[in-house]
Amino acid sequence: MTLAIKASGLAKAYGDVIALNGIDIEVEQGTVLGLLGPNGSGKTTTVRILATLLQADSGTASVGGFDVVTQPDEVRSVIGLTGQYAAVDEYLTGRENLELFGRLFHLSKFDAAKRATELLDRFDLSDAADRGIKGYSGGMRRRLDLAASLIGRPNVLFLDEPTTGLDPRSRQGMWAVIEDLIAEGTTVLLTTQYLEEADQLANRIVVLDHGNVIAKGTSNELKSQVGGDRIEIVVESAGDVAKAADLIQEFGSAPATTEEVVKTVLLPVAGGSTAIVNIVRKLDENKIAIADIALRRPTLDDVFLSLTGHATEVDEVAAPAKGRRGRKARS
Ligand SMILES: Nc1ncnc2c1ncn2[C@@H]1O[C@H](COP(=O)(O)OP(=O)(O)OP(=O)(O)O)[C@@H](O)[C@H]1O
Ligand SMILES: [Mg+2]
Repeated sequence: MTLAIKASGLAKAYGDVIALNGIDIEVEQGTVLGLLGPNGSGKTTTVRILATLLQADSGTASVGGFDVVTQPDEVRSVIGLTGQYAAVDEYLTGRENLELFGRLFHLSKFDAAKRATELLDRFDLSDAADRGIKGYSGGMRRRLDLAASLIGRPNVLFLDEPTTGLDPRSRQGMWAVIEDLIAEGTTVLLTTQYLEEADQLANRIVVLDHGNVIAKGTSNELKSQVGGDRIEIVVESAGDVAKAADLIQEFGSAPATTEEVVKTVLLPVAGGSTAIVNIVRKLDENKIAIADIALRRPTLDDVFLSLTGHATEVDEVAAPAKGRRGRKARS
């Protein structure tokens, strides 16, 4: 196993605010790590340390085999970074922005122009290439940002909340683009507050809360920590709830719970689909009418709630009035 990113005991405080409390992170080459956590959990701080933009107070880290403190230039030569806040220049066109980045990467004028055209095309920005980016939508800006971070053909890519503030369609588009990069073998560390995003893109997930790693594993491992599948049965008559629970208990992996008011029985199960068949048969034999039956798999939202005791926060696009720290939707 070759590690593209390895960090041990990273800690960082801003005054008396502890942003990172000694975290370990390992990302195998060619894989995607999702760094998941609510606002202020330390995601950006981690990315900035790994991308050599910020020094940790203690701990060590290497990226692409290079130490972030003693070999920052080497680290920079192998990474790309799409920051949480757009790095592109408002007053230039999309093409000019990319050419500028190319020149910063010491490409010749010709090569910078060629690479810009390639990337504009790849990210579906050709039509808008020669317009000032002030007129770009949020999704276009994010794509341009990502394009800019790919100028130097990085092996390791840091994406800090790549889809925050995007509408669902642009988010899907961004996911497709990221999936292509992953398929090409780029190692990716992406931060997100969106559990479905981590679920969709990441091989492994590290959950941060208040600067600590509170869980790590694959999405499935995390989900099974919260408990496995549950079957939810709604019966026609409230009077049948307790009886139904007794009858189907033999198919469960833990005691059933009931909610009389909504005529519902919840049964934790090991093999979800077999259990459904058995339950339907058993209730039918006993003349209990079923109004609805469904298999519920835990989502990463359930995981987050059970780990942190609080749900992830509401999408800021849906709730712009929350006044989050210095963040605005990019649209
Ligand atoms: N420059 C700074 N000065 C003071 N405190 C800071 C600074 N940068 C970050 N912090 C604090 O450090 C903690 C971690 O911040 P960080 O930006 O890493 O979190 P995050 O997980 O990226 O959050 P978000 O989801 O809002 O982007 C927070 O409590 C934050 O307020
Ligand atoms: Mg952040």
